[in-house]
Amino acid sequence: MKKVEHIGIAVKDLEKANNLYEQLLGVAPYKQEEVKSEHVITSFFQVGETKIELLKATSDKSAIYKHIDKRGEGMHHIAFEVEDIYAEMERLRKQGFRILSEKPKRGADNKLVCFIHPKSANSVLIELCQSIKETEK
Ligand code: CO
Repeated sequence: MKKVEHIGIAVKDLEKANNLYEQLLGVAPYKQEEVKSEHVITSFFQVGETKIELLKATSDKSAIYKHIDKRGEGMHHIAFEVEDIYAEMERLRKQGFRILSEKPKRGADNKLVCFIHPKSANSVLIELCQSIKETEK
């Protein structure tokens, strides 16, 4: 894996959280994007080489809705950037990690993503993400 690409934080009120994180980080969010398939709106802040992703549920079908319902707002996942998400999924599967989808999905910020079940990783939800190359669009 290459680096921590971003840290995902579940929030109830995106506007309030945007303002708060803008004050905290000293930088404005560079993009807001809805991921309809996941029922979330995301907001991204660039912090050096890493990003902060704020996530707000748009319906009760969203994993973020369920997370906030159970645990309240806060840290939701750590995302690692990988070179080849298919190869990494295969590698981790062989080692017994439980991956939450058969294939990578299209996530926010022009990425292919998949998630590893928290039970496989000391109760931390792990995301793998790979930038979508121009030729794959
Ligand atoms: Co993420």
